[in-house]
Amino acid sequence: METNAIALTYDDIVILPGYLKRGSESDISTLLCKDRDGHELILKKPFLSAAMDTVTEAKMAIAMAREGGIGVIHVNLSTDEQVKQVKKVKRAENLMISNPIHVNDTTTIKETAELMQKAGFSSIPVLDKDNKILGLAVRPSVRFQEENFEKAITTSMVKNPVIVRLEEVQSEKTSFVDLGKAKRIFANNTQNNTKALLIADENNVLIGMITSKDVENLKTFPFACKDIQGRLRVAAAISTAPHTMERVCLLVEAEVDLLVIDSSQGHSDYVADLISSIKKEFPTMPVVAGNVVTAEGALFLAEAGADIIKVGVGPGAICSTRKISGVGLPQFSAVKEVHAALQRQYPHIAVIADGGIKNTGDIGKAIVAGAKAIMMGNAFAGTDEAPGETIIHEGAKVKVYRGMGSIDAMKNGSGSRYEQDGKTLISHGIVGFVPYKGTVTDIIFQYAGGLRETMKLTGATNLAELKRAKWMQITNAGELESHPHDIKLAHQEPNYGTSK
Ligand code: IMP
Repeated sequence: METNAIALTYDDIVILPGYLKRGSESDISTLLCKDRDGHELILKKPFLSAAMDTVTEAKMAIAMAREGGIGVIHVNLSTDEQVKQVKKVKRAENLMISNPIHVNDTTTIKETAELMQKAGFSSIPVLDKDNKILGLAVRPSVRFQEENFEKAITTSMVKNPVIVRLEEVQSEKTSFVDLGKAKRIFANNTQNNTKALLIADENNVLIGMITSKDVENLKTFPFACKDIQGRLRVAAAISTAPHTMERVCLLVEAEVDLLVIDSSQGHSDYVADLISSIKKEFPTMPVVAGNVVTAEGALFLAEAGADIIKVGVGPGAICSTRKISGVGLPQFSAVKEVHAALQRQYPHIAVIADGGIKNTGDIGKAIVAGAKAIMMGNAFAGTDEAPGETIIHEGAKVKVYRGMGSIDAMKNGSGSRYEQDGKTLISHGIVGFVPYKGTVTDIIFQYAGGLRETMKLTGATNLAELKRAKWMQITNAGELESHPHDIKLAHQEPNYGTSK
């Protein structure tokens, strides 16, 4: 079908200012879907890190979830490795550690020190043979005991650790641990300088442990995206390659929060069949499907059972799809098209705008087009948390950022994203360098900050209100005027660069 309609991308439009009421707050949280236990999966900041092998592994996913977004662990990993990474994120924070690693009265100080080193823990309970609490081994009094290394740990443990009953730290509402209550117990035990609370039953048998680190994280990361058990949320990408259901089963067992079907051609039987296989096996497991850019593609995925639809063919910074195939759609129009199609029949299905974000102002534009959240690759590539080493290239610190459709990445497994078998590969992406960017926290600060500025300027107090903001198409001259002009840049601002 031919059409004369003009397809627009973020740089082709501006959002018009609106009235701002004094004292307005801007809430940038977004509801994506229900999780598999029926609880709301909310991102306090509407960002996802892309399922790319130079963007998201466990380290990135932990940082994303702590900051209020979610990371999608890429699929260029063996099933075992991807599952391991999901488990790493799920274990990074807890309400209560249910089966804490422990030692016995016969364990030596040396063995305890080695265990602490290996596991990376600074508090280990000491139990008798019936799992009753004898004390708590803590790092300094274990590590600095070289002369007594062969003695039993019972000679060098805290003999009066803080022991509480589960009811004392349980939330009345959820029956899970309430870290606020744990915090008050820590606060009241200053004389012990304790780093862990031990939870015991009436016979003094250990049930679990709460560390002060988990309580501190509440304050350090108040926006963290967590499940009902206080664990960070994490998503995992899956492909339409054969045997994917084996991977799906293991990811679900590892308690992944979202499955993201990673395909450049979402409007396909491959993707629809995978959605229905997942839904048959795990009816409540939320599935993100894509990528599509048309109303037909979106409705096709909605009918196939997708919970969330991901939009984008060709906007990515490393993407050559539109040039090598001539197919795709500029991203503002793509998000609008999909959102409008779903609004009529499937208003509960959230849209994720995937790729093509160049400036922080593009986030608000994606929301105005109808996105509930935004997936970014380039923005997060080059950070400390992205996989890969920082290297020096032409005198500057950089990291590699590559398309999952580049020949290099497809050789590592991502060929199925493009329905290619790995033998004769047609590239859809490039390999390049991005500047080293510091931490994900700094990046999210800028993107969330930019979005809040959009909301101030439009007078919106939440994303639903921002969605209703007016916008206009602009000319090339208007876009040029939107940049700083007629001046030489003295230095780069943290949220405005020069690279095109
Ligand atoms: P960015 O935020 O503009 O860098 O775009 C990231 C998005 O580009 C990813 O989330 C993918 O949807 C998409 N993508 C990743 N690799 C490729 C590729 O090789 N070709 C085309 N698109 C890609």
